[in-house]
Amino acid sequence: MGLPEMLAWVPPGSPDEALVRELDPARLPAHVAIIMDGNGRWAAKRYMPRVEGHRAGITSVRDTVETCARLGLKVLTLYAFSVENWKRPATEVGTLMVLLKRYLRMELATLQKHDIRFNVIGRVDDLADDVKKELLHAAERTASNTGMLFNIALNYGGRAEIVDAARRAMASGMRPEQLTEEVFGSLLYTGGQPDPDLLIRTSGELRVSNFLLWQIAYAEIYVTETLWPDFRRQHLLEAILAFQKRERRYGGIAAPALAGR
Ligand code: FPP
Repeated sequence: MGLPEMLAWVPPGSPDEALVRELDPARLPAHVAIIMDGNGRWAAKRYMPRVEGHRAGITSVRDTVETCARLGLKVLTLYAFSVENWKRPATEVGTLMVLLKRYLRMELATLQKHDIRFNVIGRVDDLADDVKKELLHAAERTASNTGMLFNIALNYGGRAEIVDAARRAMASGMRPEQLTEEVFGSLLYTGGQPDPDLLIRTSGELRVSNFLLWQIAYAEIYVTETLWPDFRRQHLLEAILAFQKRERRYGGIAAPALAGR
């Protein structure tokens, strides 16, 4: 996995190849998190029902998962369904769940081929049994894979996650002074995973939408006007290149300034 793997995959002489060649392999983000937005608008522009946008979004999911795995990223997290999304019409919610189940069934072989470990984050217990069964099956079948970890955030809310972690801390009986930032982070759904370095949001909205609230404390945020169903490898590579041009300071001062002291 890495740039040679990417170069073997992208068509020679293509714009994607030029983007891959621009990447600095030593400064790839370890964890990329994506708010997949704009499916409804994509469908509306085509006078199609909203669910067609979700259906088309599956191709973007496939392309993104494969690109991230081939790049050798450690973690990819996709925001598929929030705790607030239950407010949508029942038919839309139902279709999203059907699409998710179908995706998992169809893509399991691809996940295996790329050594991807599949994981769900969110209040999974509240999901329907058939959905839970499919999620568990994919997680179990890929559990021993050692490549990229692929989190799907489902029935996920950042505040709910923090409340769940606080409940776990209280239930563990630990003393208040034992609860450090590090310990609290380990109690989140993403415990043990690196925090996202890069948060991508499609379709131009400048919101965080209750996604990974704790974990994105120092993430670089990249917003693209591209609607999720149009998002492809090229857009992901552009986002990573933009990330590599940023200067991350984590509340400190710029590295050149430090060097001059
Ligand atoms: C936001 O677009 C998108 C979602 C709420 C669902 C995303 C789900 C998928 C792409 C398909 C299933 C996912 C996986 C991982 C297989 P929106 O409907 O809010 O768009 P809008 O803002 O234009 O209305």
